Amino acid sequence: MLWIRFENRGREMDNEWKPKSLPFLGELHMIGLKVHKSEAEAVRRKLLSMRALSRRFKSLRVGDYVVFPLEREVKGLGEIIHASFQERKRTPPEIEGKFDIIGDIALISRAENEQEIAKELMKRKNIRVVAIRAGHREGEFRKMKIRLLAGENRLETIHRENKCVFKVNIGECFFDPRLSYERREVAKEVKENERVLDMFAGVGPFSIVIGKLSSPREIISVEKNQVAFSYLKHNIKLNKLDEKITPILGDSRDVVPVLPGKFHRIIMNLPERSKEFLPIAEEKLADGGVIYLYSIGESPEDVLNDIHMRVLGVRRVKSYSPKRYIFRVKLTR
Ligand SMILES: C[S@@+](CC[C@H](N)C(=O)[O-])C[C@H]1O[C@@H](n2cnc3c(N)ncnc32)[C@H](O)[C@@H]1O
Repeated sequence: MLWIRFENRGREMDNEWKPKSLPFLGELHMIGLKVHKSEAEAVRRKLLSMRALSRRFKSLRVGDYVVFPLEREVKGLGEIIHASFQERKRTPPEIEGKFDIIGDIALISRAENEQEIAKELMKRKNIRVVAIRAGHREGEFRKMKIRLLAGENRLETIHRENKCVFKVNIGECFFDPRLSYERREVAKEVKENERVLDMFAGVGPFSIVIGKLSSPREIISVEKNQVAFSYLKHNIKLNKLDEKITPILGDSRDVVPVLPGKFHRIIMNLPERSKEFLPIAEEKLADGGVIYLYSIGESPEDVLNDIHMRVLGVRRVKSYSPKRYIFRVKLTR
């Protein structure tokens, strides 16, 4: 039995003791930051960027609050308390940060000791397949060669994020679990009754997260890869968004210019080539509407270099290659 103590610093006996049944790994009584669950993700990111979050210990969830274990005291982000934190099961250092989890598939990058890593990952309850990237994403469908290493013989899985469910074959379609936060952030900006256009929809993660977390009037999702399109249709049903999302199979270059009406939000997640499609998107943008353009560059200046629309903001989303990043650029007229 592990006891969690909530203790307001400097105030005696204002403590809250809560029992929790957890397998004992090792625990430490240390300082933590208590925040409401609605702010938890934003605060977690902030703490990570400040290098103030202790990754060695698990955060606590008590009622509507989350308590993050801290490396050092921080000011202005929430209430500092003392609590007992449980140590995380450690990922062996040789595989730390080297894999993604998509549904029940662990996808590793490069590794000399791939069999050892696969064996280690297969010990996890949530992993049924271990696979390795066998090349870069290629072609207009951004597919990746993937080689199975261990577990079941399949690359199809069910992935959950942002209260949505996605069926995807990771060898046939693009899917990046690391964009989960990005999708949620974009979804939060979509206002009630807006029209949304997802020009490179893939299996539907942006469209579906927006449909689930916001209240747009309608979403049009265009995808050219026939296989990804089949998953897109399936995922729309799976998430009960048939009434909201209209999937269209085709090339955005042909489809978008003939779509009726204008759009308040246009998502352009085809980082390698999105800029080529910008004039088409701009034509379809409603007054005051926003384009979310994903593009690759070394710096924000590099990405903005040849863009002539009004820039509302730039965010570095993730790294792409050693010196280059994917940026999200918000544009308006
Ligand atoms: C980088 S992926 C992004 C997919 C999805 N938005 C996501 O976040 O997972 C780009 C997608 O655009 C599709 N695509 C590429 N060229 C296209 C075009 N001209 N028209 C429509 N879709 C296209 C690809 O097949 C791929 O699924």
